[in-house]
Amino acid sequence: MPSVFVTGANRGLGLEFVRQYSADGWRVFAACRAPGSADALSAIAAETDGRTTLHAIDVSDRAAVQRLALTIDEPIDLLINNAGQMESWDEGFGRIDYAKWEDLLRTNLFGPAWVSHAFASHIAKSDRRLIAMMTSGLGSITDNRLGGRNPPGKLYLYRSSKAALNMLVSKLSFDLKARGIAVMAMGPGHVQTDMGGPTAKLMPPESITAVRKVLADRSLEHTGRYFFYTGEEYPW
Ligand SMILES: NC(=O)c1ccc[n+]([C@@H]2O[C@H](COP(=O)([O-])OP(=O)(O)OC[C@H]3O[C@@H](n4cnc5c(N)ncnc54)[C@H](OP(=O)(O)O)[C@@H]3O)[C@@H](O)[C@H]2O)c1
Repeated sequence: MPSVFVTGANRGLGLEFVRQYSADGWRVFAACRAPGSADALSAIAAETDGRTTLHAIDVSDRAAVQRLALTIDEPIDLLINNAGQMESWDEGFGRIDYAKWEDLLRTNLFGPAWVSHAFASHIAKSDRRLIAMMTSGLGSITDNRLGGRNPPGKLYLYRSSKAALNMLVSKLSFDLKARGIAVMAMGPGHVQTDMGGPTAKLMPPESITAVRKVLADRSLEHTGRYFFYTGEEYPW
């Protein structure tokens, strides 16, 4: 039975990953900050005869990430670094909250690095050996210039965190290749979640069905690359 570890599993895209992989019979490690109040997640887990388990994780807390990794003694085929935060569109130049920027980097950049590091040996023991980092078109420098797909100003915190995450993907892909682990950046498209907002083009089931299809087809030969939910390669 293949296994997946998902961070930020209690709502939005993380919850949809858990719903779909659980329905497909996978072993699912569903990690979130407050499992005790994750009602939708608990309801999914209750239908799986113990295949889907809930785990407490705040990805911005390195020691806690390491402690959790020590409690799990099973291979993990696919790690999805999904937990993320974004500031409001109002916080442009001159209105940057630097303390918030530090916090956001801990979740969006250091968190995926810490989780990947802590769980690398679990992934190396598995058949699929894949790490997916949930990135964003808003982190693509090509796409955030004048004339690009995204409006050029604002969102310094989020955009810089995802651009740096993209570089993390590129560097980790070299360092983990010898252990047979592929690392990819995945763009889910603009999706209706708390983060994506109500006007986004896609709903979570549509985006995550497509993302899972892309991931199902990826292996070490695709490591260090950035894919959109459509399967196309995305510009960094
Ligand atoms: N939605 C989009 O249009 C879109 C587009 C491109 C990329 N993405 C990326 O896709 C991922 C999921 O986005 P989403 O739309 O599902 O966002 P969301 O609805 O805002 O959900 C974010 C999730 O991340 C969790 N989280 C935040 N900080 C955390 C931390 N320090 N430790 C552990 N969990 C934490 C949240 O948990 P709490 O409930 O505890 O806050 C929540 O489960 C993010 O990385 C995002 O950047 C989304």
